[in-house]
This record gives sequence, C-alpha cells and structure tokens, in this order.
Amino acid sequence: MTQRTITLRRPDDWHLHLRDGEEMRSVLRHTAQVFGRALIMPNLKPPVRQTCDALNYRRRICQAFDSSPECGHFNPFMTIYLTDDTSTTDIVIAATSERILAAKLYPANATTNSAAGVTDIGKLDPIFRAMAKNGLVLSIHGETLINARGKEIDIFDRESRFIETLDLIIRKHPGLRIVVEHVTTRKMVEFVQAAGPNVAATITAHHLLYNRNALFTGGIRPHHYCLPVLKREEDRQALLAAATSGNPQFFLGTDSAPHARGTKETACGCAGCYTAHAALPLYAEAFDTVGALEQLENFASHFGADFYRLPRNTGTVTLIQKPWTVPLTYPFGNNVLVPLRAGEEVLWQVAD
Ligand code: DOR
Ligand code: ZN
Repeated sequence: MTQRTITLRRPDDWHLHLRDGEEMRSVLRHTAQVFGRALIMPNLKPPVRQTCDALNYRRRICQAFDSSPECGHFNPFMTIYLTDDTSTTDIVIAATSERILAAKLYPANATTNSAAGVTDIGKLDPIFRAMAKNGLVLSIHGETLINARGKEIDIFDRESRFIETLDLIIRKHPGLRIVVEHVTTRKMVEFVQAAGPNVAATITAHHLLYNRNALFTGGIRPHHYCLPVLKREEDRQALLAAATSGNPQFFLGTDSAPHARGTKETACGCAGCYTAHAALPLYAEAFDTVGALEQLENFASHFGADFYRLPRNTGTVTLIQKPWTVPLTYPFGNNVLVPLRAGEEVLWQVAD
C-alpha cells in the first residue's frame, strides 16, 4: 500500500514558549527544523517587558540555532509582556522594531509566570490606543479569574467569562488587532467568528485532539494539564470545525510549553503541554479525523502570516502517514521533559 503524504508551504507557529539558556537550547530544534517562523512568548522569569529585553532574548535564540546549520531558515518573532507599569512609550518603541509583532496580555496569575501580569485591564486603554495607532498586535491569554463580587470563577468557565472583557476592548478599540491565544471553548470560537477580521485566534494541537477526560484517564494525567484547561467534547468539536473551516481568523499556535518532568509530576504541577516534537504531525492527525487535511496548509502556513501582515514562507514540508513512537522523555537543560504522547504513537511524521 502506498503511504499517504501531504506537502504544504512551510508553516509558522504563532504561539511558542522556548524558555531560556540550556532549556531553550534543548527544545529549539524541534520547532526550528519544521517551522519557518515562531512568535515567542515573553513569560520568562523575569518577564520580557521592554524592546531591549525582547531583542536580547531573540539574539540568544539566534545564537543557539546558528550552530546547527539545518535550522538556518528559522526566524523568531518576539512579544513584550504587558504589566501595570507598561508605558505608551514602551509600546511606541516596541512597534518600531520589525522583530516585535505583539504585546502579550496576561491577566495577573492566570497562568505560568503571569504573576507580573495586568491586575486591572480597565486601566490599559491608553496602552491599547497606542498599540492600535502604532500597529502592534494585542495577544491575549483570555481568562478571567475573579468576578465583579470578588468571587473565584470556576476554572472551566474562565475563558467564556473573559468574553465580556474582550467585547469591551473591541468596542472601545475597533482598530486594535487582537489574537485570542489558544482558544478552548465553543463560546469563544463563536465570539471570534462574529468579531470581524481584526480579531483572530490561535488553536493548539492538544485542544484539537483531547477533551477534559484526558486529564483523568485511568488516574490523574499531569502532562495533559495546561491553561486554559482542556474543555468538553462539544468544545473540542467546535475548535476542530473552526480550524478546518477555511476561516482565516483561525490559525496555528502550538502553545508548546516545556516544563521539567519534576515540576509537572508533583503535588502542585505546572500548566503546559510540550508538543513541539510532533507539532505538525499532531495537527495533521486532528485534521485527518474530520477528512480536512486539505485545509491544513491554510491553517498552518497561510492565515497566521496574513494576519501578521508578513509574506507567506517559501519552501515546503512534506508529511507522511507513517506511525512512530514518541520517546518517553527529551533532554531539557539539566533535566528531562515528558512530551505529549510519550511512549505512544503519532500517526504522521515530517519527511527528511
Ligand atoms: O499551559 C500553559 N502553559 N498555558 C500558558 O498560558 C502558559 C504556558 C507556560 O508558559 O507554561
Ligand atoms: Zn502560551
């Protein structure tokens, strides 16, 4: 039997966590071997707040792959991290760098390394005005933790409760271009669809492949824990429909988030799924379940570049439907990490 293959324009990953130092050097190759570009998230410790921080971080990433010739095509784009102290001058300076595409809004304490995030989004209007005026995209971790009466919101409702905040931002700043990162719910998908072309969303491979049962299959599964947390099957179905619909508002962002094994397999484990080792094959698997492989190129290689007003990549990558078993661990600095599907099969692979 002949193997099924699919060739697409070289894709981009519009939402990626690389960390720094030896850890970054351990994971970078997984992304750089396949993707042309990636948008690198700024939630380091301390966060990447200023243009100079972002450009220095980018230099460290480039130095790391300069030494591996096969990664020479890879181009990282950067984000800055919004805090209560971000100034409009910070925004104007960031917008002048063609290496910086977006400013990332983490509501304070919403996720990994977000303690320095924004405590009152209502105070960001001058920042949003400066971003709209200077063409910097707003990248959002869209979850609300506390309601107006100061009560904690259920973890499964945090994304849908963010819709009211997002709606207000869009009404006040219709010229602001927004990416709702890693959408996980049918409600948010429908909101983005109705919001028009200035609003887009990234979708991860793990949210396309798993629902919240995967957190508890046969016992607690820390390597399926990410934020926003996996949702219901009906939400997964809505994500899959959006990703494969041909609507340019939805595009690829893996949110691949490496953590050392010991920080996930513990009494209070970190949020984040590592998917960079098999990112494109995992998306192919998801798209193939609904017979929509022909939409993978739009989602992975066209719509994100178009939204960020960058040229589409030249060159191609080919996927082969040939199962392989994911290693139990990969090196991660002085530690190891446990990748998604560790010890299990992925049905597709990238051809050499
Ligand atoms: O699961 C997640 N992990 N979600 C995020 O928003 C951040 C990420 C990380 O940095 O580990
Ligand atoms: Zn992320």
